[in-house]
Amino acid sequence: MIPQDTITNILDTVRIEEVVGDFVSLKKRGANLIGVCPFHKEKTPSFIVSPAKGIFKCFGCGKAGNSVRFIMEHEHYSYPEALRFLAQKYGIVIEEKERTPEEMVALNERERMFNVNSFAQQYFSDIMKNNDEGIAVGMSYFRERGFRDAVIDKFQLGYCLNQRDAFIQHAIKNGYSKELLLKVGLASGNEERAYDKYQGRVIFPIHNLTGKVIGFGARILSGDKTKAKYLNSPESEIYNKSQTLYGIYFAKNEISRLDNCILVEGYADVLSMHQAGIENTVASSGTSLTTEQIRLISRYTKNITILYDGDSAGIHAALRGTDMILEEGMNVRIVVLPPDEDPDSFVQHNPIEVVREYISNNAKDFISFKTQLLLQNVQNDPIRRAEVLKDIVGSIAVIPDAIYRATYIRECSRLMEMPEQSLMNELNKLLRAKAKKTGFGQQEQEVVIEDVKIEQQLSPVDIVPVGFYQEQELVKLLLMYGDKDIDVDGFDENNNPVVYKISVASFIIDDLKNDDLLFNEDVHKIIFDIFDRALDEGVLPKEQYFISNENPQIAELAANLLSSKYKLDNWEKHDIKVKTEEDVLSKMVVSTILRFKDMVIDDKRNDITKQIMESTNIDDQMILLHKKKKLDELRIKINKELGIVVAK
Ligand code: CTP
Ligand code: MN
Repeated sequence: MIPQDTITNILDTVRIEEVVGDFVSLKKRGANLIGVCPFHKEKTPSFIVSPAKGIFKCFGCGKAGNSVRFIMEHEHYSYPEALRFLAQKYGIVIEEKERTPEEMVALNERERMFNVNSFAQQYFSDIMKNNDEGIAVGMSYFRERGFRDAVIDKFQLGYCLNQRDAFIQHAIKNGYSKELLLKVGLASGNEERAYDKYQGRVIFPIHNLTGKVIGFGARILSGDKTKAKYLNSPESEIYNKSQTLYGIYFAKNEISRLDNCILVEGYADVLSMHQAGIENTVASSGTSLTTEQIRLISRYTKNITILYDGDSAGIHAALRGTDMILEEGMNVRIVVLPPDEDPDSFVQHNPIEVVREYISNNAKDFISFKTQLLLQNVQNDPIRRAEVLKDIVGSIAVIPDAIYRATYIRECSRLMEMPEQSLMNELNKLLRAKAKKTGFGQQEQEVVIEDVKIEQQLSPVDIVPVGFYQEQELVKLLLMYGDKDIDVDGFDENNNPVVYKISVASFIIDDLKNDDLLFNEDVHKIIFDIFDRALDEGVLPKEQYFISNENPQIAELAANLLSSKYKLDNWEKHDIKVKTEEDVLSKMVVSTILRFKDMVIDDKRNDITKQIMESTNIDDQMILLHKKKKLDELRIKINKELGIVVAK
């Protein structure tokens, strides 16, 4: 029993943003914080934390509550477990009398498992530092591999004595049962004959997001090929391999800060990277990457850089992961290390600047990576080439965002020297097949319907100022695709027609400035100015800049706009013929600008019409009529460009 005044103390002390922040990457949004909901699958954040109220609420799945509730939901803890967890986090001592053996048994199973793991971790670390064998065998092994005390301490590495049951004896003396030791895999055998599972091995504790030890990896020190190189904890109530990433507890802040997660294969790789100061690194620990692991990363960043061995197994492992990452709507880049190097050896062999440079110079987006890799042994065999093409387009087809698909198709067309159109046909075939199989198409339809409903709700025509939506569409393009390049027709210095690349932001801002057009809404104006200045400075702001903007109006607008996606269907509704997905973005940008201009002209035209009605002077009327005619001509021109013939 936890005394009531202690509970009150805990509830008074905890800060929801810190509690949730340990598990969810939160960004400021006005008075609140926003993040990706950990309780249901979502890509755009709808999970809100209110520090003032001390609550969280997900607008997607509806879960809500205070800090205790959050921990109960997230860690599957009971109420007292959650309170104990929070007490520990804030250093609040829970006054409890010494536990009797009965109470010990009554302690919830999960907590007992956490306890025994933590106990074991401390024991193994202690042995490695203070026991002769621990120092001579365990510690010197790590030292020889180049690991310094700081990283050894941080990752709580240890050593298990090469004896039958030294650890088990010690644990039993301290009140842990054989049954429990067997259950978490610290012991092997059975209750009658139990022995230390990790005898003579170095120990890598595996931590969950809050830093609790949920399992162990234990590496053999001899080259004995008849024994497993690593022994790992079995799956249990507290250790789910496919949901765990080695190093995530130590990496999560850096992943969030750098907006990138480096993914490696093994324990040693993580240690070396962290030791070298590249702390946004985690490992999938030998299992092939799972969707749950990717989602774990996606709480902190949308960008993954895979750093795998240069050997063919490493490359294969990297390839297997890419489609799953793409499917989650994340961006993946791949760095292949020089032959015979893994991240661990590479970092240990090279100065840190060389490593950083290598990573940034050799990170290939998946399409270039896959294309080059697959084309290597194809030469001019047309059948093999076709297979490669299918494979790559298959990967592109899993990407949820049409604009990204289009960009990759273009890139693929360039690398494979194939016409975009035929790649697009292949892609469309796959997308249609997928829609049929999964009913995916239907799902998209539903989203569109929902969008429309929301818009209707929010847009009673009389209260929305003229042109509000046209403006907002442009702002949305700026926020969503501002830093993406589009092709624009133009002329070079010799007046020859050329196609050049220009960012969406630069296209929109420059075009509006050329025509002296401004936004009306204050918040739109601010965003316009931010981009205008950013273009001068040459660094475009990212989505997150707006979502987490200190101006709550901007943050809210960004959260709203960025949470809805463009749908191709919408553009077809507007009668714009979208031939292939590849030109959607340019078309969207151009037509949105035209629509905006059309609106501005229409507004002026209405103004003039009113003036004509009010005027009593025939000369004035003639001048106004002339102006109106000019505007009409302009409108017709714009609408022709838009491909819509204005009904007279
Ligand atoms: N692994 C495992 N069991 C094995 C082999 C490997 O669980 N029998 C996992 C471990 O998480 C390991 C990762 O796969 O870290 C990568 O394997 P490997 O490259 O063989 O190990 P390294 O960590 O690189 O080990 P070392 O550098 O010490 O040889
Ligand atoms: Mn290795």
